[in-house]
Amino acid sequence: MTNTETKPVADAEGGNQMSVTEFILLGFSNTLELQTLLFLLFLVIYIMTMAGNILILVLVVVDQHLHTPMYLFLGNLSCLETCYTSTILASLLTGDRTISFYACVIQYNIFGFLAATECYLLAAMSYDRYLAICKPLHYTIIMHGRFCLQLAAGSWVSGLLASYIVTGMILQLTFCGPNEIDHFFCDFNPLLNISCSDTHLLQLLASILSFIFTLPPFLLTVTSYVCIIVAILQIPSTTGRQKAFSTCSSHLIVVTIFYWTITIVYVLPKNDTLRDLNKVFSLLYTVLTPLVNPLIYSLRNKEVKEALRKALGEKGFEREYTTSQVSAGTTGL
Ligand SMILES: *[C@@H]1O[C@H](CO)[C@@H](O)[C@H](O)[C@H]1NC(C)=O
Repeated sequence: MTNTETKPVADAEGGNQMSVTEFILLGFSNTLELQTLLFLLFLVIYIMTMAGNILILVLVVVDQHLHTPMYLFLGNLSCLETCYTSTILASLLTGDRTISFYACVIQYNIFGFLAATECYLLAAMSYDRYLAICKPLHYTIIMHGRFCLQLAAGSWVSGLLASYIVTGMILQLTFCGPNEIDHFFCDFNPLLNISCSDTHLLQLLASILSFIFTLPPFLLTVTSYVCIIVAILQIPSTTGRQKAFSTCSSHLIVVTIFYWTITIVYVLPKNDTLRDLNKVFSLLYTVLTPLVNPLIYSLRNKEVKEALRKALGEKGFEREYTTSQVSAGTTGL
């Protein structure tokens, strides 16, 4: 911590007590070889994530057959994940470890916004699957265009609201050095760790807020899936069960990965031995989830695969595709 990166508190203008103007993100490694290797790894992951999610987004927008609530939500999710990965990996891929105070706050704000929105979108998607499987007769009546739009818009607005409140709290913090953040992006806890304010109250407040904002979508997701599983188990035929399950299995996998990784990072106790591991676990939900989501959806979903084949101009399946869509529509899938 050289003095060039900090300036005396007295210099700060307008009652703003910030004294550190720049942070250094320590990232993963200090050795140059490993850094280069990690850079290449993240670059490959970034390109694959962007390609996968943009592909899904384009398919959903372009293909009329995918204009159903489930795929429109999936389009929202893919759109979200392209932004999410770009935000997280920005500092890893530019190779510049220094980040200004405001860039750091903005990065956290966007990250929080997208992570919270993902929670709500996943819940909306679970609810959609619940209606499709447990209330097939009411599905089209309840899940009409305007309600879908309200759910999607509600997700984005709630995410925005949650992240603005927490970001407002970060802006209250004073940083007077050290300015090294032991993480690969500006996250809440690593920032609190280097702040010289008293963070106890803030930590408590943040925990309460994250419960208020994440518990409802989490409970909605869990309840939906409990009902779905109960309903599926009551289907007498094996093929019927498999068919019903196949319409929600991709989403169930995505939801499970998302909540498991988030829980590992934020809920497990943070002692020193877990701290390094925590950085690796953070990679799971910041980098891995956006990478695997399009893979899960494109590998497991007949509709997505067929839309892809169609987009690539393969002939001779169009009629089969249309009929399968019609039958899926009538069974409420
Ligand atoms: C997001 O979801 C809404 C509501 O279903 C839909 O109208 C919109 O087109 C979706 N956006 C994308 C990019 O898929």
